[in-house]
Amino acid sequence: MPTVTMVGGGQLARMTHQAAIALGQRLRVLAERPDDPAAQVSPDVVLGSHTDLDALRRAATGSHALTFDHEHVPTEHLEALVAEGVAVRPPPQALRYAQDKLAMRTELSARGLPVPPFTVVETEAGAIRFGDEHGWPIVLKAVRGGYDGRGVWMPADAGAAAKIVTEQLGAGVALMAEVRVALKRELSAMVARSPYGQAATWPVVETVQRHGQCAVVIAPAPDLSEELAAEAEELALRLARDLGVVGAMAVELFETESGEILINELAMRPHNSGHWGMDGARTGQFEQHLRAVLDYPLGDTGPLAPVTVMANILGAPEAPEMSMDERLHHLFARMPDAKVHLYGKGERPDRKIGHVNVLGDEVAAVRERAERAAHWMSHAVWTDGWDPHE
Ligand SMILES: Nc1ncnc2c1ncn2[C@@H]1O[C@H](COP(=O)(O)OP(=O)(O)O)[C@@H](O)[C@H]1O
Ligand SMILES: [Mg+2]
Repeated sequence: MPTVTMVGGGQLARMTHQAAIALGQRLRVLAERPDDPAAQVSPDVVLGSHTDLDALRRAATGSHALTFDHEHVPTEHLEALVAEGVAVRPPPQALRYAQDKLAMRTELSARGLPVPPFTVVETEAGAIRFGDEHGWPIVLKAVRGGYDGRGVWMPADAGAAAKIVTEQLGAGVALMAEVRVALKRELSAMVARSPYGQAATWPVVETVQRHGQCAVVIAPAPDLSEELAAEAEELALRLARDLGVVGAMAVELFETESGEILINELAMRPHNSGHWGMDGARTGQFEQHLRAVLDYPLGDTGPLAPVTVMANILGAPEAPEMSMDERLHHLFARMPDAKVHLYGKGERPDRKIGHVNVLGDEVAAVRERAERAAHWMSHAVWTDGWDPHE
């Protein structure tokens, strides 16, 4: 049975490892530290950095495909590996659109796909000109390396923009600016594609962000018209094919107040907006990603319930005194149907340390239970004041 190498030892690799076990495969991880979430569980760990070509080579040797838990591997390293015969999946020419938001915006707008108006920012004056032209606030973004809202700023006026631009350019961060979209909500269209060219989408989901970070996912997106759902899925299929993506890809979307869909960003790997499918879909994203990178036929992505809600367990401002284990006991006592996934990470404010999936029939009720469960797991507080001892 094959070995797949994943670059990065975070929770995405940990959950991919879980899927690999069921398929009789082996997931080797290139991890920075032995206590990274995936390094804790995989017997096949190469310690090293994703920016070190030798470490990448050691991790890739003898494996059937090299893929990603996080995307920020230098393109020239990936091209070197491809030249040495490594099956890099997705290939570097596709992955660059997940690594570089400016390259992605430029490519997608050249293909006539819907993206917010944007520009490269090389000076303070350039950012201010963009804001004066398109209206304040604007959105400034680090072109590379951002995640969970780190690397996104929304300056309200020219003064605030100038300050951010000076700081970031001074620190060597390449910047772009874009219009702040009047959002109705955010959606994600996920797809997986194999080298053979088979592709399968999951139902389009709604993602709820707090402080620029995903907090809740509702699958499928409630009250999404059939036309918009089909448009979003077709967009994901088209992008996967035209960019030559292999593996799972999330297309983060904005649904605008006026009922349009705009593309925000691409992630070419398993993604937080697909975690619901571990319990809520016939084939979840981690198994599908493995099937895709190994060129197996893809699995059925159909949902297992009318509604699945995923709520991230985000570290509380102060870690509760009650142990995680005790919190889990209490949660299971109260909600036997809640499916909990913990990542083996230390608790820090707002850090993604796990998630809860709840399946059911009615959006508001399922969402309330999933969020209540996740909040309990991070804060050891029931938001409805429930006390088991009363
Ligand atoms: N142009 C925009 N208009 C309105 N909100 C935006 C815009 N760009 C980003 N955001 C908000 O910031 C969040 C993070 O931005 P994103 O580009 O997805 O960065 P990250 O790489 O951190 O996920 C988005 O999910 C959205 O909530
Ligand atoms: Mg994003």
